[in-house]
Amino acid sequence: MIVPVPVLEVNNLKVYFPTKRKHFFEVHSHIHAVDGVSLKVEFGKTLGLVGESGSGKTTTGLAIARLVQASSGSVKIMGKEVLGLEGEELRVQRKHIQYVFQDPYSSLNPRLRAGRLVREALDRLKIGHTTERSIRVNELFRQVGLSREHERLFPHQFSGGQRQRLGIARALASHPDLLICDEPVSALDVAVQAQILNLLRRLQKEMGLTYLFISHDLGVVQHMCDEIAVMYVGQIVEQADRISLFKNPMHPYTKGLLASVPSADPNRRKKTQIQIYGEPPSPIDPPLGCRFSSRCQLAEERCHFETPLLRKIKANQKVACHLI
Ligand SMILES: Nc1ncnc2c1ncn2[C@@H]1O[C@H](COP(=O)(O)OP(=O)(O)OP(=O)(O)O)[C@@H](O)[C@H]1O
Ligand code: SF4
Ligand SMILES: [Mg+2]
Repeated sequence: MIVPVPVLEVNNLKVYFPTKRKHFFEVHSHIHAVDGVSLKVEFGKTLGLVGESGSGKTTTGLAIARLVQASSGSVKIMGKEVLGLEGEELRVQRKHIQYVFQDPYSSLNPRLRAGRLVREALDRLKIGHTTERSIRVNELFRQVGLSREHERLFPHQFSGGQRQRLGIARALASHPDLLICDEPVSALDVAVQAQILNLLRRLQKEMGLTYLFISHDLGVVQHMCDEIAVMYVGQIVEQADRISLFKNPMHPYTKGLLASVPSADPNRRKKTQIQIYGEPPSPIDPPLGCRFSSRCQLAEERCHFETPLLRKIKANQKVACHLI
């Protein structure tokens, strides 16, 4: 049996940012934004990355896309290590991973017309010849539900939803294997959110795309993802397929997160009756032990000094908690 290589495989990824020193002799502290993340996404699947603000979701996505520098670890795209790539090799690799931002406006040059913006992505990555590029721009506009007339408009003349379609068209220009969607609909009205999510699902089927889908909205994640990884202060505390995670969350933090989402399922309501109080600890040189211990109603003494490892509990569920 041939086992296909995962489109994305991340092992023990760490991204530490040095904090500013107040005086010359002060020792550098580090923000442990991503602290030992490992995950895999198979071809054509969507992995959701959820967690509170500041848990390290965006930094994980940016490090995978080589838009921030990883401190250590491994990121393989279609089996090829990408963290050490430089120059031409990195440019070629960039075609395979693209990033869709929450606010495409900030990543679009306001002085360029929409058609030019998509064309620029093809030029930058040296994709196709001149005439092929024009044809590809037309095709991309059609695929994301924009018309040829839209190619002549400037970004500020688009609605929020249309602007996100434009961001998606640009991201798709290079035929990427992996699309990292970072809160792609959180800035949009609910009705427009549904349109963009449906577009992403349709494109995934039509083009065989694999998604890393970052969101703090569990409703959106439930709609979009095959598997979900829950992040807390730079680490994954639980990872499971969608059904297991929503029906039988195991980590106290996941239970708390789900408790904040209204559910018609009485079983789930019972299982997620945990409320989370307080704030997460600082990611600056975080203490040993379970990072959730300061907020966990079930914490025992060892939780404050023994770090729980992410362990396989069931075929499709991994949890990092001493009590499970
Ligand atoms: N360039 C940077 N320099 C220093 N610290 C950073 C940098 N980027 C992110 N951080 C810090 O890293 C941590 C993780 O941030 P990140 O943006 O990845 O979180 P997030 O889960 O995406 O949050 P949100 O849901 O608010 O988008 C935070 O403490 C943040 O302040
Ligand atoms: S390891 Fe301890 S503190 Fe951490 S989630 Fe489990 S019970 Fe709570
Ligand atoms: Mg973010």
